[in-house]
Amino acid sequence: MGTRSEVRSQQVSSRSDVAGTSEPITGAIFSDPMAGGPKRMFLRAGGLSRQAVRRRPVIGICSSWSELNPCNLGLRDLAEAVRRGVTAAGGTALVFPTISLHEQLVAPTTMLLRNLMSMDVEEMIRCSPIDGVVLLAGCDKTVPAQLMGAASAGKPAIMLTAGPRSWARFRDAPVVTDDGWKLASEFLEGRLSAEEADELEDVFCASVGVCNVMGTANTMAVMAEALGMALPGTALVPAGHAQRASLGELTGARAVALAQAETAPEAVLTEAAFDNALRVLVAMGGSTNAVIHLEAIAGRLGLGLGLDRLERISAETPWVLGVRPSGPFSLEDFDEAGGVPALLRVLAPLLDGDAASGDGRTVGQVAERARGRPHPCLRSMDDPFDRDGGLVVLRGSLAPRGSILKRSAAPPEMWTHKGPALVFDDYRTALERSFDPNLQATADTVLVVRNAGPVGAPGMPEIDVIPIPFSLRQGGVREMVCVTDGRMSGTQSGAVALHVTPEAAVGGPIGLVRDGDEIVLDARRGVLDLLVDEQELARRASEPRSGRPTPIRGYEALYVDHVLQADEGCDLDFLVDQVPGRRRTNA
Ligand code: FES
Repeated sequence: MGTRSEVRSQQVSSRSDVAGTSEPITGAIFSDPMAGGPKRMFLRAGGLSRQAVRRRPVIGICSSWSELNPCNLGLRDLAEAVRRGVTAAGGTALVFPTISLHEQLVAPTTMLLRNLMSMDVEEMIRCSPIDGVVLLAGCDKTVPAQLMGAASAGKPAIMLTAGPRSWARFRDAPVVTDDGWKLASEFLEGRLSAEEADELEDVFCASVGVCNVMGTANTMAVMAEALGMALPGTALVPAGHAQRASLGELTGARAVALAQAETAPEAVLTEAAFDNALRVLVAMGGSTNAVIHLEAIAGRLGLGLGLDRLERISAETPWVLGVRPSGPFSLEDFDEAGGVPALLRVLAPLLDGDAASGDGRTVGQVAERARGRPHPCLRSMDDPFDRDGGLVVLRGSLAPRGSILKRSAAPPEMWTHKGPALVFDDYRTALERSFDPNLQATADTVLVVRNAGPVGAPGMPEIDVIPIPFSLRQGGVREMVCVTDGRMSGTQSGAVALHVTPEAAVGGPIGLVRDGDEIVLDARRGVLDLLVDEQELARRASEPRSGRPTPIRGYEALYVDHVLQADEGCDLDFLVDQVPGRRRTNA
């Protein structure tokens, strides 16, 4: 009996010996003299003409539209725009749905289901009679899930994201997503009345579209563009804007061209493309979640990125974009400055200009022709917000395999810190205990929230805010140093070391921290240390620990058995491609 991956390889190779089972189905099936007839007949139930069901290429429009996902509600209209583009370019478009995941409406966490959605996307692309696919996504996990699935399926693919929603106005001031969390804290502290909270609810989501800051959704939209998997200039156009619909038509036409050229995702998603995306990510201080998602997408192609690569790129790439939460500026400001193409122009000396962009040009050509007005949100590499990237990898005795800190969103005075730990065994406990007036904490305390990782939670849920103890909040403390093996949106103030790996649930040192232990953070040198000697840690490790009961059924059981740690992308181990280039490059 071999290892699990050896057994899997034997199964794959024996499958490919059976005629028909190893080849993904394509639109060619409709012209097959034997098999085509029944398929055409059924397809015509949708009102397609005799000519339409014979046209090639057939482009699937993979839509994560759902009324359970308000961020993605604009995708139904976008699908029609894409369909127009496909038809005008000579193809036939067929829209199909997939799982859709909304950050606020899915419990316990979308991250638990990201991999399931990616499997849905992969299998629907692979098993449907289509020659290529347009991926329509928006809310945080829907973007990486579709890219992961498409990378594994291997058919030509291009993405169009939903775009950010409009700003709201509250108390005569513009309000974006990040403000919502601060206003929720004000409500908890009694500084916002119930009537005002109702009024905020009325106006908060002013339109469809994704959260209107550089959180995970917009970061991943930018990543899709930087990877060459979306047309240049698409990420920031607001949801519902006429320009987004016209970009939908262009995306449909581009999908036809990609299918005709049989350009598989792995021809676009190269090592150079991932290097470029990581540079863009750290240069804009984008979402820390993107580190996990990029690793997972690359893993589907057998390209392990690893935190060493991020560490190197972050040390070489200055932080040049100051959009909230990594600075005071807005997405509109970034759009005015020229958006992603303008950022590529700034970073051009560091980028691989030969990598493919989404419209068939190279990244170098897109950067060269970028337009946009000078704006203080986007600086040059000679005059950056900081000489290092906005994200930094921390390592040390508290995080042997790494941790990520968004330095660009942390106050510089907190980049180096030493303080005693206050440990919460899970997020719920942290929320409950934060109101305890007897909690022993000062502004120097390091808040530790553990058992929030991929196995421990499970699913590595996104923590909205690690609560500052009430007594400190009343004293005016608004920012603290925090450490967790979980994830977080870009909404926390203070300095937060995230994705501590290994997590507590698999024996990581974060599970051994006790109240009062000294923790050292140095975001300039990339250090996260627990100042407890090894003998004491070994003694603590030998003590029995209570754990969460193992799930006994369903997808959750599969997930916990197979999920990888954060530094490996939190994918399921059997979905990672172990052999780069093993798959055919074309259908
Ligand atoms: Fe969907 Fe924020 S909740 S992008």
